[in-house]
Amino acid sequence: MKLSGMVKMMLATLLTVGFSLPGASNALAAQHGAKRPDRKAVLLVAFGTTVPSAQKAFKDIDAQARKMFPGVEVRWAYTSKIIRGILAKRGRHIDSPELALAKLMDQGVTEVAVQSLQTIPGIEFHELYRNAMFFGQMTGGFKRIEVGSPLLASDADMQQVVKVMLQRVPKDRKAGDAVIFMGHGTEHPADTMYAAMNYFFQQQDPNAYVATVEGHLTLDKMLPELRRKKVKKVYLIPLMAVACDHAHNDMAGTEPTSWKSILDKAGYTCIPVMRGMGEDPGIVAVWLDHLRKAYGEL
Ligand code: CO
Repeated sequence: MKLSGMVKMMLATLLTVGFSLPGASNALAAQHGAKRPDRKAVLLVAFGTTVPSAQKAFKDIDAQARKMFPGVEVRWAYTSKIIRGILAKRGRHIDSPELALAKLMDQGVTEVAVQSLQTIPGIEFHELYRNAMFFGQMTGGFKRIEVGSPLLASDADMQQVVKVMLQRVPKDRKAGDAVIFMGHGTEHPADTMYAAMNYFFQQQDPNAYVATVEGHLTLDKMLPELRRKKVKKVYLIPLMAVACDHAHNDMAGTEPTSWKSILDKAGYTCIPVMRGMGEDPGIVAVWLDHLRKAYGEL
């Protein structure tokens, strides 16, 4: 009863307004000024991967994000042009973050939470952040756009990741065996986060280290320490979202420059663990927590 009364009142108002308009051009103008209905979306942004096992990890993250925000559009973008190119040749087209945002904008999405699935706030994260902010400034662009932090963005994140990664070490490891987590490393000042992670690992486990492929904390800096501690066995575990090219080649590869080859040659028993952080629910939870925060700001 109450509702139908309201509908009648609204109709009456509409008719009055409609009839009071002097011409069609004004009606059109009113339409142009019409408020866009709010539509939210989530954009998950990874470096990208061509490795099938990592694809499974991405699928799991996707499923969790959809479960977290029922009915919300969830899309993906890869920052790596090379990875996008390889996938395109296989018939899989993945957008860059900019193209994905342009499509969302074009399709009438008004608010976006962009979640970086990167590890540190380095070059790629900052590029993503900058460009996302530009999308928020465009005329007719998003009303709001928020970018969730990468995995390691606070002291609490680092402590949590250290805890989860130590649980992932194979159970047959003895306390005297070393574990080296392989980070990517970068010329960006965020490279210091790997040194911070090394410090946090050391606090929890004196034989757990972080070394990086690029950046400051390279493997050769760890070698005197392993010698000093008379370590015999070394576990190698990627501190990267996916067990990608670096894990397969630089970490566990057969070339003489791989970490496994270097450690083998130095007399250590070397055990690579081929698993990316994206395959670990405890790590994914940290990324999704950042997404929840970003989405909450919309
Ligand atoms: Co690389």
